Amino acid sequence: RLSEPDVPIGTPVVPPQDLPSRPRRNRRSSTVRNAVSETFIHPAHLILPVFVHDGEQNIPIASMPGVSRLGWRHGLIDSVAEARSYGVNQVVIFPKTPDHLKTPTAEEAFNPAGLAQRSIRLLKDTFPDLEVYTDVALDPYNSDGHDGIVRDDGVILNDETVEFLCRQAVSQARAGADVVSPSDMMDGRIGAIRRALDREGFSNVSIMAYTAKYASAFYGPFRDALSSAPAAANGASKRRIPPNKKTYQQDPANYREAVREVKADEAEGADIVMVKPGMPYLDIIRLLRDNTPLPISAYHVSGEYAMLKAAALQGWLNEEEAVMESLLSMRRAGADIILTYFATDAAKWMAGDRSPFIGGTKF
Ligand code: PBG
Repeated sequence: RLSEPDVPIGTPVVPPQDLPSRPRRNRRSSTVRNAVSETFIHPAHLILPVFVHDGEQNIPIASMPGVSRLGWRHGLIDSVAEARSYGVNQVVIFPKTPDHLKTPTAEEAFNPAGLAQRSIRLLKDTFPDLEVYTDVALDPYNSDGHDGIVRDDGVILNDETVEFLCRQAVSQARAGADVVSPSDMMDGRIGAIRRALDREGFSNVSIMAYTAKYASAFYGPFRDALSSAPAAANGASKRRIPPNKKTYQQDPANYREAVREVKADEAEGADIVMVKPGMPYLDIIRLLRDNTPLPISAYHVSGEYAMLKAAALQGWLNEEEAVMESLLSMRRAGADIILTYFATDAAKWMAGDRSPFIGGTKF
């Protein structure tokens, strides 16, 4: 064999193995790799979450380098226009409520002139074909920092909260929202919101349910961004405020429970079901994929953004490759749609030197 001209000098001579199956044949060129790639991602799959506040300036969020609370009007419009220029035509709005507007029952959540409602209207007026998603939960408006109403003894009230969530969802629909997204994890809220929307004439407004939302440490930077963490116990008050959301968000130890949640949300009329966080819960994305015909979204949350960004800023990870691999992993697990703070960057990278369809070749 050494007489064969292509074999470089010094190549060890070994007898060829008798291997009928050699998986490497399907990896031997980018054309073959593209031809057999099982998963791809496109900007159309992405939703950009945006934080907005009632002020002029964009205010950087310390724990999310590269992400800001956008100034209402110009900051918000510019950021959405940039995302759209790269093919990301879906956003979800998270408003920062000033402390003086927060109350224990979060009425600001359904103020027709509230920041969320104004932001929805502004975006739909400016970009009529933009798909605008909203967050339905009380925490950004609740002085106790919980997604539901806290009774004095610390119980988070379910059915009373659902009533308020219905008002919130209807007020968002009135402002022009395309999709309302309940992130609160109260029982029965999808069906109640569906009925409330239909009754008010919004049968075309969709519901993206946060179906399997876990009580996760990875939401920390988001709560910084909105100052929405559960309120610290106030020594002067007799009221008890639970320090975490474990009585309504799912236990990270649990798997089967997600099937129970998805069955309920499907029966109650959800249009899209979500798993949150993303990367640590790929098994749950797959579980839902195998248990519902509904589209699945995955939320690549603030803490996941912070981890990747921190490593990239240190030069410890290649940001583009690590982010694209993360997004591709969620698609591979079964997600159709991904909410990610990297949406605009990812779409930019996809628009670069390669086709926007990113599969096996990319890495
Ligand atoms: C509020 C809400 C949260 C997130 C989305 N909606 C925080 C929470 O449940 O405490 C987290 C998103 C993220 O971390 O990026 N109901």
